[in-house]
Amino acid sequence: MKVFVIGSGGREHAICFKVAQSKGVEKLYCAPGNAGIAEIAECVPIPVMELERLADFAEQEKIDLTIVGPDDPLVAGAVDVFEKRGLRVFGPRANAAIIEGSKAFSKDLMKRYRIPTAAYETFDSAEEALAYLERAEFPLVLKADGLALGKGVLICPTKEEAIAGVREIMEDRKFGAAGNRMVIEEFLTGREVSVLCFCDGTTIRPMTSAQDHKRAKDGDQGLNTGGMGTFSPSPFYTEEIASFCEEQIYRPTMAAMKAEGREFVGILFVGLMLTEKGPRVLEYNARFGDPETQVVLPRMKSDLIEVMEACIDGRLDTVELEFEENAAVCVVLASEGYPEHYEKGYPIQVNHEFGKDGYYLFHAGTAKKDGQVVTAGGRVLGVTATGADLKTARANAYQATDWVEFEHKYMRHDIGKAIDEA
Ligand code: AMP
Ligand code: GLY
Repeated sequence: MKVFVIGSGGREHAICFKVAQSKGVEKLYCAPGNAGIAEIAECVPIPVMELERLADFAEQEKIDLTIVGPDDPLVAGAVDVFEKRGLRVFGPRANAAIIEGSKAFSKDLMKRYRIPTAAYETFDSAEEALAYLERAEFPLVLKADGLALGKGVLICPTKEEAIAGVREIMEDRKFGAAGNRMVIEEFLTGREVSVLCFCDGTTIRPMTSAQDHKRAKDGDQGLNTGGMGTFSPSPFYTEEIASFCEEQIYRPTMAAMKAEGREFVGILFVGLMLTEKGPRVLEYNARFGDPETQVVLPRMKSDLIEVMEACIDGRLDTVELEFEENAAVCVVLASEGYPEHYEKGYPIQVNHEFGKDGYYLFHAGTAKKDGQVVTAGGRVLGVTATGADLKTARANAYQATDWVEFEHKYMRHDIGKAIDEA
C-alpha cells in the first residue's frame, strides 16, 4: 500500500519510521518532510495547511492511507477535506479536533461530563477577566482559548503578573485570534504525564505513558518550548493510576465526544497532572505528541498501520496493541537560543549509524543544502535510545548525543532526572 504522512517534525519522522516497518507498506510519501524523513520517504514540497493541494496529491498518487501529524491542519479540517473526496485518512475531523483547538470547549466538556480537571472560568473580554482577578487566589493559570504553538499558557504566581498576562492575551493579542477568549484556571501541582491513546470513535486504548520536559533549561528553568526531551514509561503512572484514568478520564471522554456528535477517531493525547487528590486533565491534544512520539513509537511492538486501519474502521477493540517491556529516553538537540533567537544553516555531522540497536536519530528542524544536512530550526534533532530500564535508556541517550555535532548545539542535561526519585 501507499502511505502519505503530513508534517515535518520529529514526531512525523518517528511516525514515518514506524510506518516504514509495517508489512504492507510499499511506498511512503511525506509533505513537506525534512532531511531525515527524506531518507525513508519521498518528500513532497506541499505546506501542511494547503489542504486541497495535499488532497490533490493523494488523489493523483492513489494513496491508500494519509496520516495527519500536526494540530493546525486537523483543527482546520484536513480530515474533512480528504473524506469529502473519498480518500482514506487517519485523524479526527474538525468537529472533534476542537478538543485541542478550543480550551473553552474542552473545559466545558470536562465539566459537563464530570471528567476530573482544574477548576476554571471562561472569559470573552479583558474587563471580565480583570474583574475576576480582583477576587481570585494565586497562583493562577491563564490560557488563550485557541492554538498558540503550545505557548498560550501563562502560570501567574501573583495578581500583578496575571493582570499583565490578561492584557497580553486579550488586549495585545500576543497569540493572535487564539486570545479572543481565555480560560483562567486553578494551579495544580504534581507529576505530569502524557498518555497518547488510539481512538475509533467508540473504543479508546492508551499507549504506554511518557513525560515531556517543556522548559528550555535544566531544573525546569527558562521559557516554555515545544519540548526538550521525553522518557517512557513514566514510573509515576502506576497501574492503579492507569485504571483510574481509564475509568474516569479516557472512556468518559470518548463517550462524551460521541454523545456530542463529535466522534473522535485518531490519536487523543491526554496531558495529566498526578495531584495529591488524584489525576487531573491538564489538556487534550488531537494528535501524537512531539517529542512523546519519539519515545512511544520505538517501543511499540504492534503494527502501526494495522492499528490505525482498525481505528478508521471502528474495530479497535479487536486488534493487538503491545509495547516492549523496556524504556526509552529522547534528548532534543536544539540550536542555542531556542525558543527565542537562534541561528541556522550549520552543517550537522553524524558519527554513528542510527536506526539500529535501540538508537534513533529523529530529525525535526533540518534541511539539505548543497548535499549537506544543515540545521534549519530551533529543535534540530531528537536522539532516542532504548534500554532495559529508564536509567540505562537515559545513559544510552546521553552517550548518543556525543555522536552528533553541529555549531551551537544545545541540550538539557537532566532529561529523565525525575526517574531517580521514583
Ligand atoms: P497546556 O498547553 O495546557 O498543556 O499547558 C502547558 C503546560 O503548562 C503544561 O504542560 C503544564 O506544565 C502547565 N500547566 C497547564 N495547566 C496547568 C495548571 N492548571 N496547573 C499547573 N500547570 C499547568
Ligand atoms: N509535547 C507536547 C505536545 O506535543 O503538545
